[in-house]
Amino acid sequence: MARRRMIYEGKAKILYEGPEPDTLIQYFKDDATAFNAEKHAVIEGKGVLNNRMSEFFMTGLSQIGVPNHFIRRLNMREQLVRMVEIIPLEVVVRNVAAGSMAKRLGMNEGTELPRPIIEFYLKDDALGDPMVTEEHIIAFNWASQQDIDDMIALALRVNDYMSGLMYGVGIKLVDFKIEVGRVFEGDFQRLIVADEISPDSCRLWDIQSGRKLDKDVFRHELGDLSEAYTEVARRLGVLPRNGATTKGPKLVQ
Ligand code: C5P
Repeated sequence: MARRRMIYEGKAKILYEGPEPDTLIQYFKDDATAFNAEKHAVIEGKGVLNNRMSEFFMTGLSQIGVPNHFIRRLNMREQLVRMVEIIPLEVVVRNVAAGSMAKRLGMNEGTELPRPIIEFYLKDDALGDPMVTEEHIIAFNWASQQDIDDMIALALRVNDYMSGLMYGVGIKLVDFKIEVGRVFEGDFQRLIVADEISPDSCRLWDIQSGRKLDKDVFRHELGDLSEAYTEVARRLGVLPRNGATTKGPKLVQ
């Protein structure tokens, strides 16, 4: 078989040239990194779980009209996605104080926020992805005011969808990160959700016990990461059992 052309290798994924124009193959690795790659491990099966879960979330988002790059899953570790021009920003939405915001503002982890708060971070590993304001984004031409408005609208719709979905399976969506890309359609361009949505890029707490079911398990050595991700996938009905196809979420009493 001819070798595929690799377009980009990130910490948890590889992008290959796709089989059709304007497509890419997104390959999910088992690598887990934290603290700007200072901490690294290989967690067997993580890539398979994230491929499945990202497929599940992106498919659901498409069904409610939130545009995203997902086309179809190809196999256990790969999915076909639309090629986008990635906006060099990470868009974080927070519902509950945790992580870097709790630290920066001296808040107790777990404090409910009065409304979802959106933050932008510059995608720059060398700088450790610093937080930036809308002023920086426009002045330095990373995106336009219209792009910012569109990114906020997309992020809030993803938040509503993901919060509801997680609530239905007994999980609180504390915060998450999305990436956004530009696609060109004739004379028009629009922004769509890109990259992945998975427990690697969300904070997910079990509502009853407060147990963490996301990458914080790896960041702070709270237990078995793969077991936590499997629990999320199982509750959502994403993991096939005995070869059965997926059936969607199960209500947790
Ligand atoms: O670390 P911080 O509290 O700013 O992270 C906010 C959210 O964004 C968390 O859910 C985290 O997993 C996610 N995030 C990410 N990739 C980054 C930084 C944060 O997925 N590079």
